[in-house]
Amino acid sequence: MVELKSVGVVGGGQMGSGIAQLAAMYGLDVHLIDTDPVALSSATKSISASIQRFVSKGQISQAAATDALGRLHCTSNLEELCSSDFIIEAIVESEDVKKKLFINLDKIAKSTAILASNTSSISITRLASATSRPQQVIGMHFMNPPPIMKLVEIVRGADTSDNTFYATKALAERFGKIVICSQDYSGFIVNRILMPMINEAFHALYTGVATKEDIDTGMKLGTNHPMGPLELADFIGLDVCLSIMRVLHAGLGDSKYSPCPLLVQYVDAGRLGKKRGIGVYDYRKVPESLKPSSRL
Ligand code: NAI
Repeated sequence: MVELKSVGVVGGGQMGSGIAQLAAMYGLDVHLIDTDPVALSSATKSISASIQRFVSKGQISQAAATDALGRLHCTSNLEELCSSDFIIEAIVESEDVKKKLFINLDKIAKSTAILASNTSSISITRLASATSRPQQVIGMHFMNPPPIMKLVEIVRGADTSDNTFYATKALAERFGKIVICSQDYSGFIVNRILMPMINEAFHALYTGVATKEDIDTGMKLGTNHPMGPLELADFIGLDVCLSIMRVLHAGLGDSKYSPCPLLVQYVDAGRLGKKRGIGVYDYRKVPESLKPSSRL
């Protein structure tokens, strides 16, 4: 197996910035790409704040933190990935947009480079078939936030080679992660199970079974989940949850995966969760009297 030296990460949102941080902290040169310069500047800030927290907790030295930040290059120019050994895509959860990116990456990346997707649910086989190297395309699904969460779910497309699989597994293990493997079916393992639960929590709220607080407290204290499902949906991003439900619905064909109308309505209203300051809960510091009602 060829030694990996440089990693490209495309998409500098919550997941891409965390993945880029991990790669830099584990000694790899990283190019972090985002089309939005504002996203790149907030990624730089959040990565350096997160690395600093590792220093304050005594988990890494200040020198290691400085080295990690020195290995991180942020840019909007995709062409800079021409020398990356391994590229991880973490852009918006849309098959069309991801396919376009994979077509471009296939042209830009060196012939030996592996193209991985952090997709939560989209078919790796279909992303791979947009390229001329389907054997070097794989799903590498990190959990949120990537520097903290222990799991990486690896998804092999129909043509993913053993070499690609073992290189991806080795990279995840280099990052200190535990790997699980899923077949390439909509939602893979984690979101196949998690998202219907989140969607059902929206139905419980939508049909007035209980308040959002009681739904979350019920699942936290009653089933020992560290976060309630609605709180977790806000943390993941309601747009991401909705996209995944749509992929499950289209891919598995069962009406039980149909997205709850309240989830759809929140996303239509721009209530995307913590990243926008408002989702199911309101995270903005505004007087109570000026806040919108908890149901639209
Ligand atoms: P996000 O909305 O925080 O970030 C997406 C970023 O991609 C944005 O900064 C956007 O400007 C950028 N982008 C969009 N199109 C682009 C393009 N063509 N080229 C370069 N940059 C582009 O989204 P998030 O939450 O980071 O999700 C990214 C991916 O990771 C999605 O596929 C999602 O399903 C997956 N994922 C999300 C998790 C979560 O908890 N949010 C957990 C695991 C996977």
